[in-house]
Amino acid sequence: MKIDGLSALVTGAASGLGLAAARALREAGARVALLDLDAQRVADAANALGGLGIECDVTDSGAVARAIETAEARHGPVRINVNCAGIPGGMRLVGRDGPVDTAAFARVIEVNLIGTVSVMTKCAARMMQLPPLNDDGERGIIVNTGSITAFEGQIGQGAYVASKGAVASLTLQAAREFMPRGIRVMTIAPGLFRTPIADHIPQEVIDGMLDGRMFPNRFGEPSEFGRLAVDIIRNPMLNGEVIRLDAGVRLQAR
Ligand SMILES: NC(=O)c1ccc[n+]([C@@H]2O[C@H](COP(=O)([O-])OP(=O)(O)OC[C@H]3O[C@@H](n4cnc5c(N)ncnc54)[C@H](O)[C@@H]3O)[C@@H](O)[C@H]2O)c1
Repeated sequence: MKIDGLSALVTGAASGLGLAAARALREAGARVALLDLDAQRVADAANALGGLGIECDVTDSGAVARAIETAEARHGPVRINVNCAGIPGGMRLVGRDGPVDTAAFARVIEVNLIGTVSVMTKCAARMMQLPPLNDDGERGIIVNTGSITAFEGQIGQGAYVASKGAVASLTLQAAREFMPRGIRVMTIAPGLFRTPIADHIPQEVIDGMLDGRMFPNRFGEPSEFGRLAVDIIRNPMLNGEVIRLDAGVRLQAR
């Protein structure tokens, strides 16, 4: 899909990977709406990039619907949706205090999974009503953010792993469902990226990863995530797949 001039909506866009995706889309010529829980930071980010900043909690269904309407009123129908809003969710299933607090577990699922589902389905429903953009019949694309922890669940990452595993397994199902309407669905599963969320990764896990088990042997830069998001959008043969962006690392149990 040619990105230039298209309307894009990115969640979690005030920081880290979402901000990098928004920047890469702007550089590719998209008109970008940046959504985030953090009103001030998303306004600042949007001003810096020349985008539209919208305060939005992805777990608030009504707020998501209103944010999409606001974005479309300014930029036209959303054709590109990149979902990066997420929170860490480190917890043991059975810890020192006993079984996991299911309310805390559910909160992580609510943001990382239900929030992603809410935004992607609302965007997809609108994309379905649009005319195709090209000879392939493409109407739009959704790029979600998973994590390599979906495949190598580490001890202590309970709710986070479950949320990202669900995002990964939903990728092919959603792609298949939306195929007849010309909408692709992809997921990027990052490894270790230098963003504020990485502050929640235990130092022993970081030390273990940066111990010759990956090449390049360093944190990924958010711009490398943004670049992949743009490449996925441009390449119409990528659909229904989860792409690891992880320098070849495989996580240990802890
Ligand atoms: N950084 C990494 O190493 C890494 C690795 C694997 C996966 N990820 C995933 O990448 C995504 C982006 O993470 P990041 O590293 O950029 O972290 P980040 O903390 O820099 O950015 C996350 C953004 O999401 C926003 N957010 C949180 N809850 C929200 C909500 N309910 N509604 C709207 N916005 C909300 C935050 O305000 C923040 O701006 C997350 O889904 C994360 O799980 C990150």
